[in-house]
Amino acid sequence: MRKYIVAGNWKMNTTVPEGVELAKAVAAKAGEVPANVELVVAPPFTHLVSVAEALKGSKVALSAQNCADHEKGAYTGEIAANMLVSAGCSYTILGHSERRQYYGETDEKLVEKVKLALANGLKVILCVGENLDEREAGKHFDVVAGQTKAVLYNFTAEDMKNIVIAYEPVWAIGTGKTASAEQAEEIHACIRKVLADKFGAQVAEDTTILYGGSCKPSNAKELFAQPDIDGGLIGGAALKADDFIAIALSF
Ligand code: PGA
Repeated sequence: MRKYIVAGNWKMNTTVPEGVELAKAVAAKAGEVPANVELVVAPPFTHLVSVAEALKGSKVALSAQNCADHEKGAYTGEIAANMLVSAGCSYTILGHSERRQYYGETDEKLVEKVKLALANGLKVILCVGENLDEREAGKHFDVVAGQTKAVLYNFTAEDMKNIVIAYEPVWAIGTGKTASAEQAEEIHACIRKVLADKFGAQVAEDTTILYGGSCKPSNAKELFAQPDIDGGLIGGAALKADDFIAIALSF
């Protein structure tokens, strides 16, 4: 039984009061979204406690955008998985291309982060995706399969129950250039095959795989209609409650 998810990655946007307002607006409309679609918002760390409060009683789950690769201690500026849980998170995004590109996040670090997130009871939204050069060189399948294996082949079928994958082609993020439904679908199917090879057909079938990269109300329907696309990780369009909800109504 695969779960549909629409998750909003707010990135480094909104002040705390603006974020609380946005969360309240999303929570107020969340009832319109069908019960089989889970809504998730991922505000900056500073907002988590206040946004958790704003989401209370709604069906919207709270996610962080990252977590530390150590359990606790002398790691100035880092936020540990158990801190996220204590702030009200049930998810964390990990391995977003902006983390990989600007903050040197490697697959090895991601393995540690996923381990700690799962050990502390967080669900993980693990991001994978090729950049423009890789796509133009025809390496997109290899890159995405490679990233998926490098992290997830360190985990078990049981762990996979708490892991969601987000395919986000780097060239489509924040560029207005969405992957076509066909381009996204063929990569999603490839990811599912990579999962099937290691964990078996049932785990592959049950894993939620999201698309991300300039997903908006006008293109969500076509993307979500694909057999292997189970929702979206939404950046820009998640900063407007109406657009975010409209996307979630696109199944
Ligand atoms: P975008 O970002 O929707 O603004 O392209 C998606 C993401 O990076 O998660």
